[in-house]
Amino acid sequence: MIEIIVNGEVRVITDEEDIPLLWVLRDHLNLTGTKFGCGVGLCGTCTVLLDGEPVRSCQVYMSDLGDREIRTIEGIAGGGDLAAVAARVQGAWIAEQVPQCGYCQSGMIVAATALLARDPDPSDDRIDETMTNICRCGTYTRVRAAIHRAAKGT
Ligand code: FES
Ligand code: FES
Repeated sequence: MIEIIVNGEVRVITDEEDIPLLWVLRDHLNLTGTKFGCGVGLCGTCTVLLDGEPVRSCQVYMSDLGDREIRTIEGIAGGGDLAAVAARVQGAWIAEQVPQCGYCQSGMIVAATALLARDPDPSDDRIDETMTNICRCGTYTRVRAAIHRAAKGT
């Protein structure tokens, strides 16, 4: 049995296996906003925050967590230090109509929130080097526009 902190709540996981966090979020806690893509740390669709830092949850194991706080797309705007930034990002995503199929977008929003928390007004180059999430629908231009909009707070 292990206790983890997800979106501000202590959750008890009874699975004894040292499985990836992504499996725990989706299969044990029914937090299915975090998506499975490649499973090998490349696509970023499984991105969550660990103590405010973006991580690829398919590559983080239960034994890596300790008492660090996990924030998923379901809880990113609901509390914690990043709530205001996350709310601006989500508003900008709607205003710029970023999503196409939507599959990659929760990971994109989590990564963009972490970027803006560190760098409130990132350049295009900074956005491109930081946002390494893969989008099959090619929403990269809109992602960039939404990050600039969120940085301006509009
Ligand atoms: S599913 Fe984790 S990086 Fe692709
Ligand atoms: S919006 Fe379809 S994969 Fe990104």
